[in-house]
Amino acid sequence: MGSKTTDLMSIDFNYIYSYLKKNMSEERYKHSCQVSKVAENIARHYGISTDKAKVLGLIHDCAKDYSIIELRGLIKKYNIKISEIEKNIPGLWHAYVGAELARDIFNIRDQEMLDAIRYHSTASRKIGLLGKIIYISDKIEPDRKTEQLNKVRKLVWQDIDLAMLELLNQGIKSLIYRNLIIHPETLHTRNNIIYEKKESLVNE
Ligand SMILES: [Fe+2]
Ligand SMILES: [Fe+2]
Repeated sequence: MGSKTTDLMSIDFNYIYSYLKKNMSEERYKHSCQVSKVAENIARHYGISTDKAKVLGLIHDCAKDYSIIELRGLIKKYNIKISEIEKNIPGLWHAYVGAELARDIFNIRDQEMLDAIRYHSTASRKIGLLGKIIYISDKIEPDRKTEQLNKVRKLVWQDIDLAMLELLNQGIKSLIYRNLIIHPETLHTRNNIIYEKKESLVNE
């Protein structure tokens, strides 16, 4: 078995920038650059690799501009297992396909990095600090204007799990109000944080 870690020396930022510029809408490209910048800052705050966070911010939506038909083709091509519930939420597909493209096109082998992309829409109990940073950065980058995000923007520097919990609560509420399906893993991730943070949540 080979090493599972990605050699960041092998990541060519110039290639990533030019690939994304060519394959993304201008708006998506701007979003990706902003997520990258936010992720880099949060990673620095928590003392983990700023390069990994920067790359992931850039490429997390690398599959988002594909049509549903193209995504369906890529799901087949990469043999991605999609659950019954996921078949009914096409908005999630770009995250699963994005993780495969990250491996295929950008040569990323680090499982934690691939999972950060795969679960940036649903969240997951599997993601670690890096995945949480990408999940949060995606939602709080400066062009996201919703006022309730300001609470997350403060919390993220104090306690990343509480920032996740706040975002998950906001996201779940919004799905409920819009009569949309909630991915079970989103609920599991939320519940898990509550189990883990029980002590600090009691007095809130
Ligand atoms: Fe996305
Ligand atoms: Fe995004």
